Amino acid sequence: MIITLIGYMGAGKSTIGRHLAEILEYTFIDLDDYIVAKEGQTVKEIFQHKGEIYFRKVETKYLNEIITEQDNIVLAVGGGTPCYGNNMEVMNQENVVSIYLKLSPGYLANRLFNERAGRPLISHLDTIEALTEFVGIHLFERQSYYHKAKLMIAAEDKTVADLSRSIVKQLY
Ligand code: S3P
Repeated sequence: MIITLIGYMGAGKSTIGRHLAEILEYTFIDLDDYIVAKEGQTVKEIFQHKGEIYFRKVETKYLNEIITEQDNIVLAVGGGTPCYGNNMEVMNQENVVSIYLKLSPGYLANRLFNERAGRPLISHLDTIEALTEFVGIHLFERQSYYHKAKLMIAAEDKTVADLSRSIVKQLY
């Protein structure tokens, strides 16, 4: 089985994914890290030098590569991955369970504010108010894709261990 974790930037996909993979004795893969390793550039550099459209193309290509070649993995994808091409269909194939980690814009913005430098879509937002407004609009636009996930977990105010436990409970 392949478990994909989807959700907005700052939702905790990688942190929870790593923990969940340990519990299930699966391999953990972070799609952004995979892209960086394959392309030899950071996400920020890819956006800067090659543009977002190039990033979205390679994101889809590597998502397909991982899902075709791997099994027994937990895969944390980027916040935008579900919203391009047929990525959500790929992540809803028979052997794949997609899980949406749902958090509110205010909660996400607070978490993201000090970590925004490496994230090209939000690095220009200088105040918490501007970031909260951006996340609110952006999340609203993306929600219809996220809601295609097979499972949804309310991820606010819960520890990583609690979230992993409730995911395992819903899976088996
Ligand atoms: C993006 C999210 C990032 C990364 C890129 C674009 C997005 O991943 O893929 O900066 O469009 O939301 P994280 O969600 O892991 O930060």
